[in-house]
Amino acid sequence: MHAVSAESRAIVESVLDYSRRRVLWEDIPLDVPATPDELAAQAPASITATGIGAVRALALFGDVLAPTCLSTDHPGYLAFIPSAPSKAASAFDLVVSASSIYAGSWLEGAGAVHAENEVLAWLASEFGLPETAGGVFVQGGTIGNLSALVAARDAARRRNREAGRPDPARWAVVCSGESHSSVESAAAVMDVDVVGILPDDDGRLHGHAVAEALAEHGDAIFAVVATAGTTNFGIVDDIAGIAAVTRRHDVWLHIDGAYGLAGMLVPRMRAAYAGVEHADSLIVDPHKWLFAPFDACALLYRDPQIARRAHTQHASYLDTLTEAPETNPSDLSVQLTRRARGLPLWFSLATYGTDEYRSAIAHGIDLARRIADEIERRDGLALVRRPQLSVVVFRKEGWTRADYDAWCARLLGDQRAFVVPSSHHGEPVLRFAIVNPLTTFALLCEVLDTLDRPGDSH
Ligand SMILES: Cc1ncc(COP(=O)(O)O)c(C=O)c1O
Repeated sequence: MHAVSAESRAIVESVLDYSRRRVLWEDIPLDVPATPDELAAQAPASITATGIGAVRALALFGDVLAPTCLSTDHPGYLAFIPSAPSKAASAFDLVVSASSIYAGSWLEGAGAVHAENEVLAWLASEFGLPETAGGVFVQGGTIGNLSALVAARDAARRRNREAGRPDPARWAVVCSGESHSSVESAAAVMDVDVVGILPDDDGRLHGHAVAEALAEHGDAIFAVVATAGTTNFGIVDDIAGIAAVTRRHDVWLHIDGAYGLAGMLVPRMRAAYAGVEHADSLIVDPHKWLFAPFDACALLYRDPQIARRAHTQHASYLDTLTEAPETNPSDLSVQLTRRARGLPLWFSLATYGTDEYRSAIAHGIDLARRIADEIERRDGLALVRRPQLSVVVFRKEGWTRADYDAWCARLLGDQRAFVVPSSHHGEPVLRFAIVNPLTTFALLCEVLDTLDRPGDSH
């Protein structure tokens, strides 16, 4: 399995050939999911005592398994948050896999960590954080939010200890009712309460509501989470207003920008993100709107030493690492062993430059506005709210959830686009999330054209 041999050369060649074809496939199909029964029948027992061989295993993947995995980089993939890795980023992911880099420690992965840190420093400066800010790439936004909140609570506990104050009976985190489910999940893992606040009519969490929550719950609150781009609507909270309150109360401000903070890289959008510079921690996911492959979340702290105190794992076999002067990436989040998952983004940024990134992100914002105008123009369609970033939410007058489901299924069946219904105030709605620079106005109009009949996308 490990020797360089004729067999291993052939395996590597065939896998690289497959990867080359997939990355450079211009007209990729969207593909369709299969049921567990279908896959059990079509892909039975490939794990055997003697192996089925690379040729058969790769054929099984290419012919049976891969076609049941939706192509999240298809220009018509508009559901959830799509993924649209640049060609350089996708290709470089192979290099990361081939290089066996342990990127948890500086000692073992210095060059990789240096490159990742350069990306993190660039993001930190774009977001207005001080030069002393630092962080780590973790698996995704969920782990990023959890890691940041663990650091925030640890800081609050230490502060109480230093001041001789007791901890509250229950800790709590404040966030908007529109914040991502991962905040609730992090709170459950940490066994802390969530003070959820209904956003104002503009869909944003504002400082006055946070101030009221802090007045009511006092010292129990160890962090406030503001969202820079809600998942359902792409709305940026009033971060400046919230930051003014957290600063006044000396409470940790975490910004969940997993999807939307990338929008701040577009110069004309910066005003919408005023206040981000006050964050104690923030996240943005390269696998969402920064054109890197799954899975990566950039987690940044204003003061990485606080995170280091909260997260460093201590064990005798790790002393060599923990006693070293350099900050180890694994000391900053809930993880130890880590892939150098920031490197595909580093390579892509180094290859194309930051200007390309800014204009590729701007494409999504411009297209969202254009298709929103088109939706407003069309009879029978109603925009639920003007898009702020690149998510467009709208209704087809008179349609029920069953109509939306039937239409979405037909749209995917016809391999035109992948859209799933969402809901707003209990009403079903349709939602386009636009991330892919290859998604065009014409494609979106074609999708709208099919809204004449629920089960008919022709
Ligand atoms: C705002 C926001 N935060 C957090 C997450 C969770 O990120 P991940 O799916 O990478 O764990 C998402 C995912 O869509 C998100 O949109």
